[in-house]
Amino acid sequence: MRNVTKDNITDVFMDYMGPDVNPRLREVMQSLVTHLHAFAKEVNLTHAEWEKGIEFLERSGEISDADRHEFVLLSDVLGLSSLVDMINTVPGGTSSSVLGPFHISGAPPLPIGGDMKRDFDGPVLLAEGVVKDTDGNPIEGATVDIWQTAPNGLYSSQDPEQDTYSFHGLQTTGADGRYAFTSVKPVEYEVPTDGPIGDFFEACGRHAWRPSHLHFIVKADGFRPLVTEVFPDDDPYLDQDTVFGVREDLVMQYETMPAGSFPAEGFALSGKVPGDYLKIDFDLTLVRA
Ligand code: BEZ
Ligand code: FE
Repeated sequence: MRNVTKDNITDVFMDYMGPDVNPRLREVMQSLVTHLHAFAKEVNLTHAEWEKGIEFLERSGEISDADRHEFVLLSDVLGLSSLVDMINTVPGGTSSSVLGPFHISGAPPLPIGGDMKRDFDGPVLLAEGVVKDTDGNPIEGATVDIWQTAPNGLYSSQDPEQDTYSFHGLQTTGADGRYAFTSVKPVEYEVPTDGPIGDFFEACGRHAWRPSHLHFIVKADGFRPLVTEVFPDDDPYLDQDTVFGVREDLVMQYETMPAGSFPAEGFALSGKVPGDYLKIDFDLTLVRA
């Protein structure tokens, strides 16, 4: 096509795709380019703005490596990650929520009742619940991959003071489907702002905070994997999570339990928590594949 115009360029793009293109790729590209062209026309995108956008993407690429995922963060702060989560959530199961960039595979096994707090300061948190199917039956042999920040608001991969798997653990449920562990109460934290996303926050007048949360990835044979998080209902950032991860069913009450009530057995910390502590009870419901 030699007379490409502002009005026909979107159709011309479609004609340039070969006949053997994967149909799903064709559908996605057609829609993506249609919206991209419409966006440029709608805002009358200037050269200077286009260059700024390209430069932003280039800097995001430059700062990214195996541990730093600036494009994932970009998707998160634009709400795209959460939107994809919600589009793909099947009703009946626990809502999914953002994976984020701080999950690491290979977490060490954490026995039922095991402890992730170790010598860290902060209130003891006892978290437990049942992994179950949508009929309420417990799921045996489900794996629950758990991770969270240390009390300083940093994940182990961000913090030279922590060992690799600090505040990471992998539990496997027994016949009762139960998971249970102790930790410290997670804290709210800012997502990384030392790269282009920090500039984005500044330009858009936005903060970088996430409400405190525990992360879970739950897997079981025959079920769809679940990536989710649990939030306390009194967190100041609950209604302004910068990555849009909060869902109604993921908000829990952290119950303050009186001194002397910590379970006498079944936990690595049994007999070692004389004072009060926090407790959450959060069941994780999986949908069949
Ligand atoms: C997180 O919860 O770990 C997270 C999610 C999205 C962006 C940054 C961090
Ligand atoms: Fe997180």
